Amino acid sequence: MTPIQECLINKNTKINPVWLMRQAGRYLPEFREIRKLNPDFIKLCLNHNLSEEITLQPIKRFGFDAAIIFSDILMLPFGIGQTVQFKKNFGPSLGILELDKLQKVTNNDFSENLLPVYKLLSNLKNNKDLENRDLIGFVGAPWTLLVYMINKVSPKKGLSKEFFKDKILINETLDLLDKFIKIHIENQIKAGATIIQIFDSWAGLIQNDFDKFLYNPTLSIVNYVKSLGVPVICFPRGISDYVKFTKIVKPSMINIDYNVDPKNLIKFLDIPVQGGLDPKILLSNRENLKKQINSYLEVFRDHPYVFNLGHGILPETEIDMVYELVETVRNYK
Ligand code: CP3
Repeated sequence: MTPIQECLINKNTKINPVWLMRQAGRYLPEFREIRKLNPDFIKLCLNHNLSEEITLQPIKRFGFDAAIIFSDILMLPFGIGQTVQFKKNFGPSLGILELDKLQKVTNNDFSENLLPVYKLLSNLKNNKDLENRDLIGFVGAPWTLLVYMINKVSPKKGLSKEFFKDKILINETLDLLDKFIKIHIENQIKAGATIIQIFDSWAGLIQNDFDKFLYNPTLSIVNYVKSLGVPVICFPRGISDYVKFTKIVKPSMINIDYNVDPKNLIKFLDIPVQGGLDPKILLSNRENLKKQINSYLEVFRDHPYVFNLGHGILPETEIDMVYELVETVRNYK
């Protein structure tokens, strides 16, 4: 059994597996080198030789306990036929949402469009570097994908009233997402994903209708992953009530963000926890980093815990600080 499955299934509190969200990314010089030669991000995600290499980069360097596939949550709208571009120093930018066109896309068309993602997984399935490690597949949560598909760009300044105006558009897009998120998950599991993580990066923007936008759609996806016999990790970033979320949605593990007080949380929580550390701590100094890591590990001494961050690792992170992080987690007694 892998260290993370040991935590998830056997509720082992003696080990602290470690991996980092966005571990395959811009803080790595070897990633930046590939990226420089591949200015089209979507094309890079669809190049299974390069995406395989990028997925393995952080494993080779740091020996993390899991590899997360190099892909993006926005590959899903791309797969259904909405244009997705990544602009330098701007982030993602999506094309118009032509719902009637997207509703005609079949399971086969979609799976064909994302074939290189599944090929990446099947190629890595028996890779020696991943022995006794998990291979994490992922999706965006329905809410976060809805936000990108309708808002077209990152909602860094929040969502306007305009966003919620067209109820039919919202409802039909949510139905479409439920369908294709499940297809994408099934394809990833069939190709070799051993865990699925659901990224709900903009969950913190939900202010009303929590059942409609957060609980019901996430529960539907979580139950689907469980029905396929694979553990599922939820990351509803920025929500105010993680306890209520886990009671309703019941993921196999919950990834917390850095605004959660872990001490208070575990009084009310009976499922394994992942993450929490503010990625900005990696920009401070070694001493502070060690201190903060140890305080998380101390809180979770008697609770199954996978070490990770409270959001993705920042591009400006120094490599040496990541070595320090891994060493500190591994040396904790
Ligand atoms: O975690 C990993 O290492 C695996 C790969 C991965 C990427 N994106 C690669 C990527 C994963 C799991 C994601 C998830 C993702 N993508 C999320 C959820 C997690 C989170 O950070 O909140 C979201 C919201 C996206 C959408 C997205 N993709 C944005 C907003 C951006 C641009 C800004 C940014 O944070 O970089 C991307 C681009 C992206 N996805 C990059 C990488 C390595 C950077 C591409 C580059 O410019 O080189």
